[in-house]
Amino acid sequence: MQLPKSRAVFSDLVWLESVDSTNLELQRRVGEDLPDLAAVIAGTQTKGQGRLGRAWESPAGSSLSLSVFLKGPISEPGWLSLLAALAVTRALASLGVSKAGVKWPNDVLVDGKKISGILSSLTADGSVVLGIGLNIQRQSKQLDTAISLEELGIAGGIDEVAAAIGGNLLEVFSARPALKDSQKSSFRAACLTIGQEVRAELPGGEIVTGLAASVNDSGQLVILTPEPMSLSAADVWHLRS
Ligand code: BTN
Repeated sequence: MQLPKSRAVFSDLVWLESVDSTNLELQRRVGEDLPDLAAVIAGTQTKGQGRLGRAWESPAGSSLSLSVFLKGPISEPGWLSLLAALAVTRALASLGVSKAGVKWPNDVLVDGKKISGILSSLTADGSVVLGIGLNIQRQSKQLDTAISLEELGIAGGIDEVAAAIGGNLLEVFSARPALKDSQKSSFRAACLTIGQEVRAELPGGEIVTGLAASVNDSGQLVILTPEPMSLSAADVWHLRS
């Protein structure tokens, strides 16, 4: 695939018809002295990786599978995937989807349904691989909790969507290695979880429920249980939408 719009944004872009995982592919290339914002896009993934060890389905033609290399030093790794989710909501707005928001930490929702998920990992050289999956067309085995651009009446294909995300990633990370406080404030404004009663499952399986009061300066979700509790990683459900 030619991907002319995306090639204008990403410094070094590789297209693969099929790969195990674009995140794994970029990790394998880290030793090749990758430039900042090097990217891999795949038509399909055979072992797509989701958060918390889950599998991520990306059937050919129906989704964007994009991984982007953010060269170290990384000053606030906890914020990267949150700000990447902000960039995805802005990219969606530029494509005509004005009502996208973020379920903490980094699920992008439209009308309460997930359209995009993000998985980031640190590399051996202190850089970060940021993986973004986005539903372009309705999948045959799609969950009721998911939604695609097609169902929202948006015709954008892989190239257009990846270029829109890339342009917004550049913007949210423009102050790197530092991050701008204004971007953190923008994340909070786009975060649908703040102000919600939530149920959160921690990585060890513990369940906590309470009011999601804020996202603190480390990017953690602060839940009043009723004592304040700051979460770095969790699966979160909004109890009322
Ligand atoms: C989630 O669980 O919500 C995160 C899903 C992240 C999926 C993307 S698709 C591109 C990149 N490659 C992967 O293997 N995973 C991420």
